[in-house]
Amino acid sequence: MRQVHRWLSVIFTLTVVANFIAMAFGPPPSWITYSPLPFLFLMLATGIYLFFLPYVRRDKRTTS
Ligand code: HEM
Repeated sequence: MRQVHRWLSVIFTLTVVANFIAMAFGPPPSWITYSPLPFLFLMLATGIYLFFLPYVRRDKRTTS
């Protein structure tokens, strides 16, 4: 999950950069404008998972 989050961040950053480059040449097509969004939602999901991972692990250790 950490690797997924890491590589999504690379793709996400590239889509944001692509947006700035496209905007330099006038209004970009809407598929470029919205291209970071699916990756952002996937990052939100994997990021929330990473956030709660240490707490879940700590619970398991203290109970066993
Ligand atoms: C959308 C909501 C996001 C949430 C909730 C989130 C949450 C997290 C959490 C909890 C971690 C683990 C931190 C740790 O264990 O020390 C993490 C790592 C990381 N996040 Fe996010 N993140 C989000 C979006 C992003 C975005 C937009 C980027 C960059 C474009 C990003 C880049 C990274 C990177 C590079 C790491 C380190 C991963 C590694 O271990 O190599 N995240 N994130």
